[in-house]
Amino acid sequence: MRRKLVAGNWKMHGSLADNEALLGAILSGLHDVKADVAVCVPFPYLAQAKARLAGSRVAWGAQNVSQYARGAYTGEVSAAMLNDFECRYVIVGHSERRTLFGETDAVVAEKYAAAQTAGLIPILCVGETLEEREAGVTEAVVSRQLDAILARSGVISLANAVIAYEPVWAIGTGRTATPEQAQAVHAFIRAKIRALDAEVAEHLIIQYGGSVKAANAAELFAQPDIDGGLIGGASLNAEEFLAICRAA
Ligand code: PGA
Repeated sequence: MRRKLVAGNWKMHGSLADNEALLGAILSGLHDVKADVAVCVPFPYLAQAKARLAGSRVAWGAQNVSQYARGAYTGEVSAAMLNDFECRYVIVGHSERRTLFGETDAVVAEKYAAAQTAGLIPILCVGETLEEREAGVTEAVVSRQLDAILARSGVISLANAVIAYEPVWAIGTGRTATPEQAQAVHAFIRAKIRALDAEVAEHLIIQYGGSVKAANAAELFAQPDIDGGLIGGASLNAEEFLAICRAA
């Protein structure tokens, strides 16, 4: 049995004061949560996350990482820097990074490799746009996104990674993929990896992300290939986030 992982993606939200309250509320509501739990916070709040969460069941991480190790890259943050804050996870290739900040499959593959080199667990986001889904190329798109990783780091790298399937049309839109739609893509991803390495595929955590709420989490997480979720909007509300964690 794979464990389930529920990770919050706070995106560009939060403040020292708000985070203090949110992290405190999450920590005090974990008693009946069986899943693994993490929060991915904005860079400036990593120190706060570490201070607040060290020694707890909640892991923390970042939402982006530079593909470069060091140097003249103004505004970038390296994987080694994330390690200084004892991050466990880092999201790479979120669709907002791909579409709003021009990250290509090749750049995402470099970021994934940089994260792993530093010992971080990348949460690799993949997923199609609405246009791509309607054109019937969902599997081709997800395949292409995975192939960039496989070519750069090999299938064995997925033994130390998490994949998040996030259909772009479901992110922040309130329009969740149905459990059947999500399961179909998750099964496709696992089968693709299984063809290369059955053992890696069996243990690979594939999260679903895109408008997950307390009200729809249980039926999504009940699907055989959905191993938890990457939660945006709903992770900013402790009650809602905890209810999603309990559903996993
Ligand atoms: P959402 O975001 O839950 O707000 O749809 C998910 C994500 O972008 O990771």
